[in-house]
Amino acid sequence: MKHVWWKEAVVYQIYPRSFKDSNGDGVGDLKGITSCLDYLKELGINVIWLSPVYQSPNDDNGYDISDYQEIMKEFGTMDDFEEMLSEAHKRGIKIMMDLVVNHTSDEHQWFVESRKSVDNPYRDYYIWREGKGEKQPPNNWGSSFSGSAWQYDVTTDMYYLHLFSKKQPDLNWDNEAVRQEVFSMMDWWCQKGVDGFRMDVISMISKTKEMPDGIKAEGAVYGDFAPYSIHGPNVHNYLKEMNRKVLSKYDLMTVGETAGVTVEEAKRYAGEDENELNMVFQFEHVDIGNNGNKWNLNKVPLVELKKILSKWQTELNGKAWNSLYLSNHDQPRCVSRFGNDSPEYRERSAKMLGTCLHMMQGTPYIYQGEELGMTNYPFTDISQFRDIESINAYRELVEEEKCREKNELIACFQYKSRDNARTPMQWDDSDNAGFTTGTPWIAVNPNYKKINAKEQVNNVSSVFHYYKKLIALRKEYKIIVYGTYELLLENDPNLYVYTRTYEKERLLVLCNFSEEEQAIKIPEEFMTADCRILISNYGRESVKVKELRPYETLVIYHK
Ligand code: GLC
Ligand code: CA
Repeated sequence: MKHVWWKEAVVYQIYPRSFKDSNGDGVGDLKGITSCLDYLKELGINVIWLSPVYQSPNDDNGYDISDYQEIMKEFGTMDDFEEMLSEAHKRGIKIMMDLVVNHTSDEHQWFVESRKSVDNPYRDYYIWREGKGEKQPPNNWGSSFSGSAWQYDVTTDMYYLHLFSKKQPDLNWDNEAVRQEVFSMMDWWCQKGVDGFRMDVISMISKTKEMPDGIKAEGAVYGDFAPYSIHGPNVHNYLKEMNRKVLSKYDLMTVGETAGVTVEEAKRYAGEDENELNMVFQFEHVDIGNNGNKWNLNKVPLVELKKILSKWQTELNGKAWNSLYLSNHDQPRCVSRFGNDSPEYRERSAKMLGTCLHMMQGTPYIYQGEELGMTNYPFTDISQFRDIESINAYRELVEEEKCREKNELIACFQYKSRDNARTPMQWDDSDNAGFTTGTPWIAVNPNYKKINAKEQVNNVSSVFHYYKKLIALRKEYKIIVYGTYELLLENDPNLYVYTRTYEKERLLVLCNFSEEEQAIKIPEEFMTADCRILISNYGRESVKVKELRPYETLVIYHK
């Protein structure tokens, strides 16, 4: 297995709108990020994944880009960007840009031209089709944000494809001119000195030529576009071309967001010798319990979680590289989802989850606030939401189709909505958690007086200090990065236990996912005199462990 810096790195994701506001307009910005770099340096992360900062009308908070080479006005200027980049580099922190090129905004100049006429030079930059009969879209595909994936456009009496919102028309990657535009734009950012790309829904860029109706799940109004536009016929060709023309010329870190990816597909996207991407984000563990419908209250059975994560650990070993994550800007807070966010267990379970993830093989990603154990927001009403996914789902399911009851759906949002991750970063116990001196664009979680960075940086037993230690351990021990993984006790419904092996070194990782004490028999090998505890959330000092207390975790090491 090749040893490279991006395998040894720990990434921190910043969602700029919610990170730190520098000018009191209630919206986070680039100057705000620059002012917090010392905090990130102290935490010890190596790379920032910056969610989109490009010019955008913000239908989907920057994931709808109207100019790839300008900074969103609310976030600042290109000078602010350059300052942030150079200040990050001074601290040894790299910046990975979010690359959103499956679609643009409908306000992008290319689309403004494209919709003007069928013979406009930009027409073929997007995917246009004739309707089927009287005002019927070309097929039954539903968009990821509710409604049809096709939007009728009166000027030319045709429909354009949008797998996300109707303000996010899909680019036509089969058009060579589109690919060249994207590659030269990427090159422009590389010339500026950025260190990599996180590629938004990159598994969707290639669509089949034929676009038949998709299968409808039970009770669904729209059909599924997945088989025709996920891992489509040319996706690997296009990524190889991107790699040849741009990526291979720089020392970058790349990660593809690949909804629907299987282990087999991941080996193609991120295989050691495939010359596509460094790694991908898979979704199986965060989609547990969904069965095609995200809005449910299903808990995550540990046996299933272990099965999925272990499959990725063992099957990619030596062949492709894993990304490790439990949260991001599209997921609820991981302590609320996989742990226990009650005052009694929040800290312990946040530390336990961090350990479980950070001791695996792969590159870990920390989402802003995860290092503080930030929790979901107590949403009670639709007016509190800002996210297009939740707002559209509510309109469609409660108001139009009337197939879901209001309070029941809000309860599901409270558990799963993306807005849980998007409430402002909790910096201190002053007004608005120190995020802004103005009115925040989305409400601050009321628990900020208890849960905030200032308190945790000053408190050595905090989640922050625990994450700091997890990151430091990864830098010190090669086994944590490269060791081979093996799951123990696969059918235990409460304990997640695994080993890592690297040359003569061995690690045992113990995690109790329950709020009850669990008896455990530690393998002899990990109880001998030369065994050491690398980290523990109950301050254990002896390896003679007979039980794990609620949400207890510890890591034992020997050579
Ligand atoms: C990705 C992003 C998500 C966005 C979508 C459309 O899944 O992570 O936030 O809404 O793509 O760009
Ligand atoms: Ca601002």
